[in-house]
Amino acid sequence: MRRAAPAFLASFLALALMLFAAPAGAQQPSPRGLPPVPAAVAGTPAMRKLGEKLFFDRSLSANGTLSCAMCHIPAQGFASNQSALSIGMEGRSLRRNAPSLYNVAFKNFLFHDGRETDLAAQVWGPLLAADEMGNSGIGPLIARLRADAEYGPLFEASFPGEGATMMTLGRAIAAYEAALLRGGGRFDRAVYGGERAALTAREWLGYELFIGKAGCAACHLIGAETALFTDQSWHNTGVAFRSGATSGKRLVQLAPGVLQNIDLAAVGLAQTGAPRDVGRFEITNAPTDRWAYTTPMLRGVSESSPYMHDGSLRTLAEVIEFYDRGGGANPSLDPKIRPLGLTAQEKAALVAFLEAL
Ligand code: HEC
Ligand code: HEC
Repeated sequence: MRRAAPAFLASFLALALMLFAAPAGAQQPSPRGLPPVPAAVAGTPAMRKLGEKLFFDRSLSANGTLSCAMCHIPAQGFASNQSALSIGMEGRSLRRNAPSLYNVAFKNFLFHDGRETDLAAQVWGPLLAADEMGNSGIGPLIARLRADAEYGPLFEASFPGEGATMMTLGRAIAAYEAALLRGGGRFDRAVYGGERAALTAREWLGYELFIGKAGCAACHLIGAETALFTDQSWHNTGVAFRSGATSGKRLVQLAPGVLQNIDLAAVGLAQTGAPRDVGRFEITNAPTDRWAYTTPMLRGVSESSPYMHDGSLRTLAEVIEFYDRGGGANPSLDPKIRPLGLTAQEKAALVAFLEAL
């Protein structure tokens, strides 16, 4: 009996810790290199499961063809590899590239121009946009979900007493998105875990350039204990000015699985194309925000080509060439963007570093 006491005490303590230190639904700790997921979006396991179902459900679109996952494709870094500009309802071309959703829980500002700050509210953007999921209003969609034999009880279980509402639909999808964490990889083990061998010599050279000569970390921040690779701000890197961004051919997805080479000028004529995109300026009207876009987080970036708000750069090597040239010259180019004078070996090292994220 005397021997059993400490063991009993230990398991009692463990149980007490589980019950009191971790309130119901508390999330797993974040992987190494990431801060804790903000409580406002973390949600419970039941919410995440419901959110996942909603994220993949085509019936949430007006004509039953489009789900969130068809533009934010899980195997493609929760972005779309095939199309530079997203294709929405009935093949309509959007004017911007679908961003990756990895680590989106940590973003203070959503969309390439940062026009939304609330992940749960954001879902109503694509759900209602005529050229995205095309729902005519919030009411009919919510009424349908409340009446649905599967969704009705699932919402009730995740949000007792509330069921499906505009708010709870957003919170469920946000909880799923907030669990799409990318961290604890080789970069994190090497830089935050002291495991030098986790990165190769070439990747370490890329890291040194990233935080040094190439100046990348001035905007794609790397902190002392965590790294989000973004300063949560906007910069004019001159992408919108690149020659060739509005001409030439590009592979575009017309419908799920149907790809065609399209003349970009034709896409621009038919739709609100990249030429009229002036970025953050559209939100603030501040001249300094003209052609400025949110600094993207770079974890998992090798999976989510093409790059930039308009998907105009196809590979990471093209991205490095772009920065090496000093971005796209224009009157309000960010002063941190300048010709870098990188050698071929240094460019390759930077690409290798990005691929290691
Ligand atoms: C037709 C393609 C398409 C569909 C469908 C779609 N999205 Fe998007 N998504 C985009 C594009 C394009 C952007 C960037 C738009 C911009 O910046 O103006 C975006 C941006 C986002 C962002 C902001 C990410 C960031 O880094 O700022 C989130 C979050 C998001 N979408 C979630 C969703 C959810 C949830 C759904 C389903 C309810 C959904 N999307 C449906 C194409 C799509
Ligand atoms: C002045 C701030 C700034 C600096 C310096 C900077 N970036 Fe960026 N980076 C941005 C912004 C803003 C974007 C988004 C531009 C857009 O969408 O048009 C971006 C986009 C990217 C992308 C594309 C990510 C995606 O998902 O589309 C990569 C990769 C990238 N930067 C890597 C780098 C590297 C490598 C360096 C150093 C050589 C660097 N950046 C220097 C601000 C910066």
